[in-house]
Amino acid sequence: MMCTPFSAASLPDLTGRIYLITGGNAGIGYETVYALASKGATVYLCARSESKATTAITSLREKLQNPNAPIHYLHMDHMDLSTVAAGVNTFLTKESALHGLILNAGIMCTPWDESTDGYESHWQTNYLSHYLLTYLLLPTIQATALRCEPGVVRIVELTSGAWQMSKGPGIWFDQIALADHEPFDRYCQSKLANLLHIKELQKKVGPKSGTPERGEVWVAAVHPGLVETGLSANFATTSIVGRTLLRLGMGAPPEKGALGSLFAIASNDFKREWSGSYMVPTAKKGWTWRWANDKALQEKLWKWTEDQLRWKGFLGHLVV
Ligand SMILES: NC(=O)c1ccc[n+]([C@@H]2O[C@H](COP(=O)([O-])OP(=O)(O)OC[C@H]3O[C@@H](n4cnc5c(N)ncnc54)[C@H](OP(=O)(O)O)[C@@H]3O)[C@@H](O)[C@H]2O)c1
Repeated sequence: MMCTPFSAASLPDLTGRIYLITGGNAGIGYETVYALASKGATVYLCARSESKATTAITSLREKLQNPNAPIHYLHMDHMDLSTVAAGVNTFLTKESALHGLILNAGIMCTPWDESTDGYESHWQTNYLSHYLLTYLLLPTIQATALRCEPGVVRIVELTSGAWQMSKGPGIWFDQIALADHEPFDRYCQSKLANLLHIKELQKKVGPKSGTPERGEVWVAAVHPGLVETGLSANFATTSIVGRTLLRLGMGAPPEKGALGSLFAIASNDFKREWSGSYMVPTAKKGWTWRWANDKALQEKLWKWTEDQLRWKGFLGHLVV
């Protein structure tokens, strides 16, 4: 039987729904914002640079031919956890519902750097900030899910097929910065952490077996494929494989790269039993193995991160 490929046009009307996305000013994130807003959603576009965010919002409104499209800038620099917490506070002064959270911002193979909070940049930008953001928004997400039909409220986290190229224990708790490793190893570890985070979220807030219930939150980890963005440009300068693939024109345009996120966050065709899954291009359930399926590792990473963030003063009491 022939299946019609998923397209952003097939998304339902999203009027009245509120989405929040990190790294919404460029690449896959920008196209995700465009598609959600074109279906009537209100979108909070998180970015570290106000000027980049403002430029992106202006261009999105032009593309949408709607100068009043409800796309709002929220300042968040993942290299400074206090801005993530402050961004959540700002959001909560404006909204009491959140239908979709898209954890999209990322860096790859950037030179060694440490965050304001003392963590290696891939670890904090790609994973740690997203954990904090999710944790702080979960009460609102779960409250929204109680007021909606099951499946409306979702969380999507961008991972990468690169998680499979992680080394050793997968997550190196005893040297989380991977200071003596290649930048690509640091990227792989952070992307494995994204996947483990979604698997643990599935256990905590995802649908349980049986009948769909209000309050359940559908979650997915999405690998967008090789997509031509600022991120892959970096891949091309640091990796022969990346350079070759991109030269061969094997990178998809960002609007195609956004399809996996869009499918998982808002499509009516995303199935409840796929919640907690690893999704691969385009809009298909992928398979996980090794570290990704290690339930003890999923729990250990959650607990490790929670402890770190509590110790740093970013978490109050347990919310899940
Ligand atoms: N492109 C691919 O082939 C590919 C493959 C697998 C997975 N992915 C994943 O897809 C996601 C999106 O990547 P992309 O390809 O769209 O890359 P991109 O075009 O480089 O966009 C990355 C976004 O993350 C933001 N960001 C980076 N550092 C940040 C920080 N400290 N604070 C806040 N925002 C920050 C960037 O903001 P600035 O504009 O300010 O830098 C930008 O908006 C990433 O999670 C990536 O790992 C991409």
